[in-house]
Amino acid sequence: KVLKARDIPALAHYIKSNECKNIAIMLGAGVSTAAGIPDFRSPKTGLYSNLARLNLPHPEAVFDISFFRNNPVPFYSLAHELYPGKFRPTLTHSFVRLLSEKNLLLKCFTQNIDTLERRAGVPGNKIIEAHGSFATQRCIDCKSEYDDERMKKHVLEKKIPRCDRCKGLIKPDIVFFGEALPAEFIQSIGLLNSADLLIVMGTSLTVHPFASLAEMTPSSCPRVLINLDKVGDFGDQPDDVILLGQCDEVVKQLCQELGWEKELSRLWEK
Ligand code: OAD
Repeated sequence: KVLKARDIPALAHYIKSNECKNIAIMLGAGVSTAAGIPDFRSPKTGLYSNLARLNLPHPEAVFDISFFRNNPVPFYSLAHELYPGKFRPTLTHSFVRLLSEKNLLLKCFTQNIDTLERRAGVPGNKIIEAHGSFATQRCIDCKSEYDDERMKKHVLEKKIPRCDRCKGLIKPDIVFFGEALPAEFIQSIGLLNSADLLIVMGTSLTVHPFASLAEMTPSSCPRVLINLDKVGDFGDQPDDVILLGQCDEVVKQLCQELGWEKELSRLWEK
């Protein structure tokens, strides 16, 4: 056992020790709800329970590649609402940046497509956007890239962009169900072997392969879950710390304990 107790003071003590040099982070939609972006699976507020208007066979179809090929309209109506630009990073995103500035961040694996990690100032080489993002886009047939500004215009005007070369559908480089995860995700998995701490925040850990990362750290590596509810196999290992609550709140408490509160708010207010 590495931690003295499964609570915030013991965790803060460990983070400040010489044993903890490489912190791996896993993020999901719950870290962006405070920014005004709905998550997927929360009852009532989650995206998947509010898609009736799109007449989908099942909610996940909106992110399914075969469905999109036949009917891109539901995805584009959603893209209009979710398009990055309107949203500001949360305190939790700034916490990830703070870890990076303290040279403690091994890698931030995120399932989110909202690009708020980058916008919070987490360095690009520290972020693995496992489910892609809205940052780039291409034709689903000939794979030609499509211009960012033209894409933005189409999404904002609720129009569906088509490839100049082959007239195929243009899709943001978001990983849809039925598509492979980016090569950099696969290449970075091995890094978890050198993690001294894993912090998982705001995810239901239901979508694989991403969710299985939480089970790939060495047995000596403490794992922390910061989430509204208990998910995955958290609690099974002796050094699992489960901190239930709003992630911004829990992060604030942890930073208070670390004496990093002022630095955190300075980064967030920038
Ligand atoms: P989910 O909606 O499945 O899970 C979000 C989790 O965050 C839930 O456990 C919530 O209870 C929790 N949560 C919500 N708000 C929170 C808050 N303020 N503080 C703490 N916890 C909070 O979202 P993901 O796990 O990210 O994939 O979903 C995984 C993937 O499923 C997504 O990347 C997306 C989706 O289909 C694709 O689109 C490819």
